[in-house]
Amino acid sequence: MQLLDGKFLSAQIKLEIAAEVAQIREQGGKIPHLVAILVGTKGASETYVASKMKSCEEVGMASTLIRFEPTVTEAELLDKVREVNENPDMDGLIVQLPLPDHINPDRVMETIDPAKDVDGFHPINIGRMAKGLPAYVSATPQGVLEMIKRYDIKTAGKHCVVVGRSQIVGLPMSILMQRNTYPGNCTVTLTHSRTQNLAEICRSADILIAALGRPEFITGDMVKEGAVVIDVGLERVPDASKKSGFALKGDVKFDEVAPKASFITPVPGGVGLMTICSLMQNTLKAARREVY
Ligand code: GUN
Repeated sequence: MQLLDGKFLSAQIKLEIAAEVAQIREQGGKIPHLVAILVGTKGASETYVASKMKSCEEVGMASTLIRFEPTVTEAELLDKVREVNENPDMDGLIVQLPLPDHINPDRVMETIDPAKDVDGFHPINIGRMAKGLPAYVSATPQGVLEMIKRYDIKTAGKHCVVVGRSQIVGLPMSILMQRNTYPGNCTVTLTHSRTQNLAEICRSADILIAALGRPEFITGDMVKEGAVVIDVGLERVPDASKKSGFALKGDVKFDEVAPKASFITPVPGGVGLMTICSLMQNTLKAARREVY
């Protein structure tokens, strides 16, 4: 079994991005600038946004965090999105999800300029990605692809089972893994909460991508000997022995699954760190107008 080491890879990718930003700076070019909008201060979102902003700083990019109270109206939020769209100094914009119930996330995503949509959540980017056209690909699936590439994992002709059909991970992941390119060319099965015989389907996976958001759901008996197991889950589970009061768990029961896997991502230290790198890569592309 080999660990897919997100910590090592993300450090390497950050150095690559930092070198590119330094080169832009030396040449007097425009420093890439990422803007994040955070509504409220819900624990996990606050932590995610803070690490995105910190990563910008680490690679020498500019970043702006715009905060709103949870009582912000949808109209106020959309106005801010339009303002960022029109600001030529701001290259990339993310609106951290989830949003309060009174705000329609689809309306927010559709208001972001597709050329600044570094999260790849706009329907235009999702459609372009599905067609194999240049597009921003959402950060987590892109991070998974990067991991597969950098570990030179063979994908052509393999059976890839994706567990979870979320708009931001499972669905794009399934589309990407079946595309006629590397990494891709898989036979993909996209499973979800209504799937029958889930354990059996998982057992037939050469590449198993768990993105359902249920701690330790994938157990040893659901995994084929030699499978590649990629765990996208990251949940806070109460744990009195921890100072923070919680432990971070993935969707895979690591201790049971790791001995059977050929490659496996740890949690934490796996896909999560790659996600932030993808966001930085997309922001660099946005500043260079590489996609649009
Ligand atoms: N919430 C959980 N993951 C993400 C993400 O990748 N982007 C945004 N904007 N919100 C999220």
